[in-house]
Amino acid sequence: MTDIRDITEKLFAAENLTRDEIICLLENQTTELQSYLAEKASATARKYYGNKVFVRGLIEFTNYCRNNCYYCGIRCGNKNASRYRLTKEEIIECASHGYELGFRTIVLQGGEDAYFTDKMMTDIIRSIKKDHPDVAVTLSIGEKSYESYKAFFDAGADRYLLRHETADFGHYAKLHPSNLSAENRQNCLYNLKKIGFQTGAGFMVGSPYQTNENIADDLLFLKKLDPEMIGIGPFIPHKDTVFAEEKAGELDQVLYLLSIIRLMLPTVLLPATTALGTIDPRGRELGILAGANVVMPNLSPVGVRKKYDLYDNKICTGEEAAECMNCLKNRISNIGYGIVTDRGDNIRFINNKNTTKEG
Ligand code: SAM
Ligand code: FES
Repeated sequence: MTDIRDITEKLFAAENLTRDEIICLLENQTTELQSYLAEKASATARKYYGNKVFVRGLIEFTNYCRNNCYYCGIRCGNKNASRYRLTKEEIIECASHGYELGFRTIVLQGGEDAYFTDKMMTDIIRSIKKDHPDVAVTLSIGEKSYESYKAFFDAGADRYLLRHETADFGHYAKLHPSNLSAENRQNCLYNLKKIGFQTGAGFMVGSPYQTNENIADDLLFLKKLDPEMIGIGPFIPHKDTVFAEEKAGELDQVLYLLSIIRLMLPTVLLPATTALGTIDPRGRELGILAGANVVMPNLSPVGVRKKYDLYDNKICTGEEAAECMNCLKNRISNIGYGIVTDRGDNIRFINNKNTTKEG
């Protein structure tokens, strides 16, 4: 059996780890190893991005969803959810408000809501880009056809977030009803990359039935997909879901995985997520110290924030919100980092673009 030191040395050299080596790394998590990896991972993030933490303004514009994912508080089967949709005007106003606050990336996230046709989405994207050409628009609206994704891209959308949720088909089937498949989700991700989006994948840590083997497969899938962004955060139960009684993912495991991901994919944009800030008041700072370099404050109108209720006790009215940029700036500067409000593209993406222009 390979020594854990040999495995970490391979990780630091950004060499490919085997599935068994990843499982060994996961099984041998100790406080010391976790701190050691965090130190190396945050140094790697600083090597590529300096002491910068990128901010994205998150607009949760609809909590209607046609899907019934077993873990999700806004699943269509949850009759207790109080549903809302923002109008096109409200979305554009939110984006402009974000622009005034200094945001140069706007993330439009929502359930899979057929009310927002491709035509409406492309209108919204075009309007935001017309008002603010220097803003990057990120979409996170689920599984669509190649043609829909292409239409969004042609309208000016820059990035797309679609967590693969779990790479293991069997595990996927335990978290989702049978009309949803890991295969389609993964195909969507390959389509997004093919079209030219900066693409984000990811998964929940500590989701029901998840094993170390599943996580190893998630990491191998991410390595193969090679996305520009990766979103991981703890699973947190929601009272009106199938998994109401399951336990939440653990802070230390999320932090350990953030470090491993940073070391495996050194240039990736890696958020310290709201879910991480929900399970621990210092979760997002700890995430940055473990190698994350993005935060996504909430820009949605205050009145709807509580309704975008993915899991219990989601933080949504305090210092994580966009109005409190000063609180966020202070918190980040207290750990030796600085918030930056430029577009914050993936460095590899910028380099590729420059090469294509020159070539
Ligand atoms: N509909 C879009 C999609 O499918 O990608 C975006 C919205 S969806 C709610 C965004 C992410 O929230 C999911 O990819 C999932 O990983 C996460 N999520 C949902 N329920 C959660 C829970 N109970 N705990 C933690 N994260 C959760
Ligand atoms: Fe659709 Fe969660 S089930 S957003």
